[in-house]
Amino acid sequence: MLPTLESPPPGVAEDWTLPQDWQRFTPDQHAVWDMLCERQAAAMGDYAAEAFLHGLSILDLSGSGIPRLSELNQQLGTATGWQLVAVPGVIPNHAFFRHLAARRFPVANKLRSLDNLAYSEEPDMFHDIFGHVPMLTNPVFADFMQAWAQAGLRAEGLGASDFLGRLYLHTVEFGLVAEGGQLRAYGAGLLSSLAETTHAITSPDARRITLDIGRVMRTDYHFDRFQESYFVVDSFDELLRVTAETDFASLYVELSALPLLKSGEATASDVVYHAG
Ligand SMILES: [Fe+2]
Repeated sequence: MLPTLESPPPGVAEDWTLPQDWQRFTPDQHAVWDMLCERQAAAMGDYAAEAFLHGLSILDLSGSGIPRLSELNQQLGTATGWQLVAVPGVIPNHAFFRHLAARRFPVANKLRSLDNLAYSEEPDMFHDIFGHVPMLTNPVFADFMQAWAQAGLRAEGLGASDFLGRLYLHTVEFGLVAEGGQLRAYGAGLLSSLAETTHAITSPDARRITLDIGRVMRTDYHFDRFQESYFVVDSFDELLRVTAETDFASLYVELSALPLLKSGEATASDVVYHAG
């Protein structure tokens, strides 16, 4: 896991939020933002889920520098009632679950540098805003994120946060959706990285498996290189339904008795996705 601080540093509230302080961003940082957005939005047309592209058009993220969260919140609030809050970076699970359960999405208040455009070691505001926020304008996906966080708060009491963490990673970060016989990306880890999106959708080396929630929650993932398996949903309605209806407490008991699967490992019950 990425390292997190145990308690908020000075200047950061109890719930880990801080003011965005938009004025402090430099012209160079605004230029980096514009460059990233322009490049990524142009590249994503063939690969991103329709809901993501629609969200991008609502939010209008390109061309005028780092957006003010207050302005994005007007668009996002109208679309789904979600709001963005600035945080210093990766925050503890409990604070993360609490924000999402209340339809607030934490955005890291820092941006990668010009020397490091293609990659940010920790999630930065480009990943958090460009990768995640367009999908939060989709009402079904927005409800799924909240349902996931509510399950996350319950999972903490059961010592099962890691299972929910894997569900998040294989859906919210690296999820694929089948749209009209085509694979498209909706995960933010994909949509903020053209290289991994291309790998996930087109590489013969990537495994693409129809999402089964128990299977996903026992599948490990890579932090430092591309995933070897990606999970495919038919629709976000299905993702929401399965998350809202699953009896997670029973499933955790069942999954705890099974070994963790490596990212590229296959199981006999996998339904491999074939395009078309
Ligand atoms: Fe993310």
